[in-house]
Amino acid sequence: MSVVLVVHGGAWAIPDELAKASVDGVKTAAREGFSVLKRGGSALDAVEVAVRSMEDNTVFNAHGGTLNTDGEVELDAFIMDGQTLASGAVSSVKNIANPVSLARAVMEKTSHMMLTSRGANLFAESIGTAMIPTETLVTEYERKEWKKHKDYMTGVMEDFSTRAHDTVGAVALDSAGNVACATSTGGIRNKMVGRVGDSPIICGGYADNFSGAVSCTGHGESILKVTLARLILSKMEQKSVTEALQMSLQHMGDRVQGAGGAIVVSPSGHWAATFTTERMAWAAVEHDVLWYGLEPL
Ligand code: GLY
Repeated sequence: MSVVLVVHGGAWAIPDELAKASVDGVKTAAREGFSVLKRGGSALDAVEVAVRSMEDNTVFNAHGGTLNTDGEVELDAFIMDGQTLASGAVSSVKNIANPVSLARAVMEKTSHMMLTSRGANLFAESIGTAMIPTETLVTEYERKEWKKHKDYMTGVMEDFSTRAHDTVGAVALDSAGNVACATSTGGIRNKMVGRVGDSPIICGGYADNFSGAVSCTGHGESILKVTLARLILSKMEQKSVTEALQMSLQHMGDRVQGAGGAIVVSPSGHWAATFTTERMAWAAVEHDVLWYGLEPL
């Protein structure tokens, strides 16, 4: 079985000054995730490692790089195991450096699928997750952008497609034939306090050994309306991975005027990365060869 790891660093109009750092960040994340697969590790471990790498990188918004209307960080994350269909998610968490690992703990240590806000933070405390000061999750770049663009409609309708950071994610196929996905985000700039997008919902990502694994990025409300991850997987029953991705994103654009992107891996190891925003940093490793870019594949 050929093992595959694909990551994205968010679909948006990545400005030239952030392009190299974004590509470097996804290349590092893909290599780190792939090293797990190469030594026989699970797809679940690989996607967690890859997403943690991007959560730790200030160029991506999963580092808390988008602020809500109160100027606060609220982070969402999701992880799913394609072998069992088990999944875990956290939404609106603060003071947590790696929400993807907290999402995994929800999956593995509770009988629930999602914990939100205070409850998620209480759970984090109860399992000894390190808390960090929120300010350490906010970049100078985001604080400046947030001050420039202060209302939600600007954040969603204009800023999203031009300047807003968006989401990181990973999908993997391991040597046992299991797939997994993980997604982590700071959400959309100037979102209402308590707003939850697609990323922690079983919709912004999905993994099933029988159909494949997907991680989405883009305008969360649009992704939710068309249940993008499942839409892509259902189209893969008839179409190639690339066609399924393109057709699903086209549908989201036509039906709800939403822009975004996604990465996918099939149970047989076919993979794709594409988007309808200006750019998306992505990287993939297969047979020890690293692929990457800012253009659709
Ligand atoms: N896609 C991330 C969000 O809308 O929150």
